[in-house]
Amino acid sequence: MQQHFPHLFQPLTIGSMELKNRIALAPMGTGLSNKDDTLSSRLIEFYARIAKGGTGLVTTGVAAVSKNGTVGVGMNSLYDDSHVPGFRKLADAVHAAGAKLSVHLMHGGLEAYPFFTKKKRLVSPSGGIFEPNKMRFKGMDMDKTTMISNAMTHKEIETAGNEFAAAALRAKQAGADAVELNGAQGFLLQQFYSPYFNKRTDEYGKDSEARMRFPMEVVTKVRAAVGRAFPIIFRMVATEGDGGGIDVSDATEIARDLENGGVNCLHITAGRGISPMVWSLMMPIAEEGHTPIIDHIATIKKAVTIPVIGVQRIVDPQSAEEILTNGKADMVALGRGLIADPDWANKARMGKAEDIRKCIGCLQGCIGTQMTAGYANCLQNPEAGREDDMHLIQAEIPKTVLVIGGGPAGLEAALVAGQRGHKVTLCEKENRLGGQWNLASVPPGKEDFSWIVDWRVSQIDQLDNVTVQTDCEVASEFIERLSPDVTVVATGSVPVIPDIPGVQNDRVVTAHSVLNGEAIQGQNIAVIGGGATGCETAHYLADKGKKVTVVEALSAIATDEMPARKVWLIQRLTQKGVTVETNTEVDEITATGELFVTQGGRRTNLGTFDAIVMATGVRSHDPLGAMNGNVPGKTYVVGDAYVMPTNGLDALHHASEIARMI
Ligand SMILES: Cc1cc2nc3c(=O)[nH]c(=O)nc-3n(C[C@H](O)[C@H](O)[C@H](O)COP(=O)(O)O)c2cc1C
Ligand code: SF4
Repeated sequence: MQQHFPHLFQPLTIGSMELKNRIALAPMGTGLSNKDDTLSSRLIEFYARIAKGGTGLVTTGVAAVSKNGTVGVGMNSLYDDSHVPGFRKLADAVHAAGAKLSVHLMHGGLEAYPFFTKKKRLVSPSGGIFEPNKMRFKGMDMDKTTMISNAMTHKEIETAGNEFAAAALRAKQAGADAVELNGAQGFLLQQFYSPYFNKRTDEYGKDSEARMRFPMEVVTKVRAAVGRAFPIIFRMVATEGDGGGIDVSDATEIARDLENGGVNCLHITAGRGISPMVWSLMMPIAEEGHTPIIDHIATIKKAVTIPVIGVQRIVDPQSAEEILTNGKADMVALGRGLIADPDWANKARMGKAEDIRKCIGCLQGCIGTQMTAGYANCLQNPEAGREDDMHLIQAEIPKTVLVIGGGPAGLEAALVAGQRGHKVTLCEKENRLGGQWNLASVPPGKEDFSWIVDWRVSQIDQLDNVTVQTDCEVASEFIERLSPDVTVVATGSVPVIPDIPGVQNDRVVTAHSVLNGEAIQGQNIAVIGGGATGCETAHYLADKGKKVTVVEALSAIATDEMPARKVWLIQRLTQKGVTVETNTEVDEITATGELFVTQGGRRTNLGTFDAIVMATGVRSHDPLGAMNGNVPGKTYVVGDAYVMPTNGLDALHHASEIARMI
């Protein structure tokens, strides 16, 4: 039998741990643990699902080694023996699925949450005040959290080292196959080795050797606790990106020290959790491209002999295989890629790489849902984080199902209903599938967003019981003729044009038509509306060399965007010379393109523009009146057509849930 991706599926030994392949789950806090920080059965299901999908090494999300170092509700902890039984169940579940388990141990230091530490002051190497979210760009609305911490005393440093060792021993006793020490994400170990954080002048900070003292002590103590053969993986950063932190040459020295100190494997990432400006290094968004730090990882790998795990936006098996073939890393780790498709490894092994549902780098579910609903979910994979109660169950009685609208919601409804055995007809009025979502992949760097549509279309193509008709605008006669058992209306949304004097002017176009390729005359462009769509349209136009002004009534722009994406986008707008006018209401657009606005209570002429692009939101589109009961028979209205969802995830998940009920 031909072996697909032979390097990916070669076994690997790390210390005493034998891995069946070179695919690891990257550590990710999911919020799925119980509120008291013990492991929930839901979280165990989440990991077990990824293990069943063929992943060789499952790494847990952060497990706090100290109550003082916990970083969020629903994260894991291993600072007490009472946490061990949960990890034992997890180890059993992961082993039963044929994978190995590595427990990711962490102390948040400065990044711990004060409410967890009972309002005790946070601790960090050198203490003081950190203002990580200081606004650097106009229109950025990051909150102005200041973190105040105490410089750790020698006694506290000793205690924290002992806590790492005790937690590592608990992980081993629970049946884990390895521990990973989190020296990344801006947590305590990184705070010690990074000159960005560590300003101590004593033997724990006076120079680079001193800054490594605490991480090295931790490694020594953990080794003493877990014994000679038990694998210790150290997660470190290759670069912190800005602010005088670690660069690749520092990281190379750190890697050598860690190898000499007895670490069995390095897992190399980048960034710093505390600094919004470098968030996209830590969790690269689509616009950062694929494998953005792999050359840094390769440089560090050359300096050590122990195995190195490479990570950061490795999305497909082809690029993973290439990394291994070219000796840039010994193993690859995927975080979001395995949330989006827990069967990633099995599909690669079976030569079905094109069936992988790839992570698009949107952060809407893995981070967004975690911020709103408290647990990690995924735009691409509605079952993520709900593995315990959301499954595809075959329909007892196959029905005829009509889906109207071929955007993400309609495609998801048709796919899920089809997978469940229903006979589905999907009608799309345009000549291509994808609906408004096709515009989401147009702004610079967002090509991966097209995978939402591409993957669903490719899966529907494989189902004989789903028929797709494009150029097919459905009217009530069509429904009567087809007489479906169930109709799913997924007719999406249309742009809202506010009633501003002059808005019918020839110079006024919608963001949708601009992203759809309508040519824009002239150079000087105003974009009205500074939400994500307005900002991305401004980015698109600025990239084409236009002089762009974004006009927003609120005090900030891109407020509906995920924080890391927002920071990235505003940085790019600033770099590309886009002018941002916040707290600005548009009063009038004249025939000659003058834009009159109210700023600070005063009417002002903002200038004369060759084109004015309206990015002023969308509203539900229900041309058949389905919401008013005008569609005959059993009818569901899903996605944007139902109620204006906040983002693509809400629309697609709504459709997925409905299609599971048919
Ligand atoms: C939801 C989420 C939670 C994460 N939590 C952690 C964590 O607890 N510790 C850590 O070192 N990295 C964490 N990361 C970073 C990932 O381990 C990984 O480095 C990052 O997501 C980039 O890899 P990917 O492109 O394969 O997702 C997290 C990432 C995500 C998306
Ligand atoms: S929500 Fe988006 S970024 Fe997160 S795992 Fe899913 S597809 Fe990837």
